[in-house]
Amino acid sequence: MTTATPELRYDEGLANTIAAKSRMSFIDGAKGVLEYVGIDIDTLARKSTFEETVYLLWHGQLPTREELDFFTAKIRAEYDLPGPIWDMIRALPPDAIPMHAVRTMISALALYDADADDPTPEANEQKAIRLLAKTPALIAGLDRHRKGLEIIAPDTDHGIAESFLKMLNGAVPTETMARALDVCLILHADHGFNASTFASRVTTATLSDLYSAMTTAVGTLKGPLHGGANEVVMHMLREIGDIEKVEEYIHGKLERSEKVMGFGHRVYKAYDPRATYLKTFAKQIATDTGNMKLYEMSHRIEEIMDAAVGKKGIYPNVDFYSATTYYSLGLDLDLFTPMFVMSRMGGWLGHCIEQLEGNKLIRPRCEYTGPHGSEYAAIEQR
Ligand code: ACO
Repeated sequence: MTTATPELRYDEGLANTIAAKSRMSFIDGAKGVLEYVGIDIDTLARKSTFEETVYLLWHGQLPTREELDFFTAKIRAEYDLPGPIWDMIRALPPDAIPMHAVRTMISALALYDADADDPTPEANEQKAIRLLAKTPALIAGLDRHRKGLEIIAPDTDHGIAESFLKMLNGAVPTETMARALDVCLILHADHGFNASTFASRVTTATLSDLYSAMTTAVGTLKGPLHGGANEVVMHMLREIGDIEKVEEYIHGKLERSEKVMGFGHRVYKAYDPRATYLKTFAKQIATDTGNMKLYEMSHRIEEIMDAAVGKKGIYPNVDFYSATTYYSLGLDLDLFTPMFVMSRMGGWLGHCIEQLEGNKLIRPRCEYTGPHGSEYAAIEQR
């Protein structure tokens, strides 16, 4: 019996292809809507915590008080890193690019998890909690090590955002700082089939393990067209240096057909709702700290971009105002993308578990554009 070959269609960048189903986040790119399990992102940013949001994404419903306490306790119990992982962090070159170090250390965690290759749902849930819980300690530890500072253990009395800032800075953060980071973690936690989530599901769909899937995802997030954009935004603001120079700089970029980082999105052709929230946040922090310069420069860039390319549906994305927000929180520029890892880990893990529920290998085709019938010439005759 012969099977008919289905008609194949070329879709550049898979821009118009639905490659999986997901219950986690809904995006309406034309209206600028983002919901996690049906709840508007703005509501979650105002009312939820990162831990509660991850529970929602993983379980498809908000937890009761008891469920949230239990979930939080399980996460906190996994904050600390195995001894050999702390030793590996101390052995890393201090000048390592943080995203290379984060990717390496997430992969290394598998070496010290006896359940790494156990594919049962129970083991995967436990590994998901471990990965979510340990990533902040990895990032803070890497940063302290490269600065020659003593590494600080996680604080199991506090939530992820607060414990992370304490490990990073060696001091208990103010409530405003901890809440600011918590909100950033909520806003970045999931976003449909973005490149890194897709990559993590491709790895998972081969029935590889969650550590491999997270390593794939971190490598994919790193690129400046994806999660690496927030760091580049900050470099751009520094390069411009002054509000008076914004106009010339942005017009120069557009005239040279260069992209302005932090603008544009594959799905949103309206204002990214995460950027709406972060913009308000960036303004609030700037007002509170009395340092308006970066916010004002960002706002001016937005005005110029709106006039020049707004009609093409190019607006600020999540990375544009998260850059100034992270900077105001005192984070080094090259930690901006690792912050994204800390948050999106929640989304990636939820997606990978979802993928396994009705798994099918993700294996598209490519269109061959090379020659046929070529000769194999002997090496001496080439
Ligand atoms: N600045 C200037 N022009 C832009 C920008 C930008 N940031 N983004 C898109 N455009 C223009 C392109 O030049 C192109 O114009 P043309 O049709 O006249 O040639 C048109 O808009 C379409 O752009 P594409 O890159 O083809 O659109 P795509 O959907 O593939 O890209 C992407 C989306 C990669 C996000 C793009 O907007 C971009 O590179 N932005 C800058 C990087 C960035 O901020 N990335 C973070 C995205 S959010 C995230 O991943 C968390």
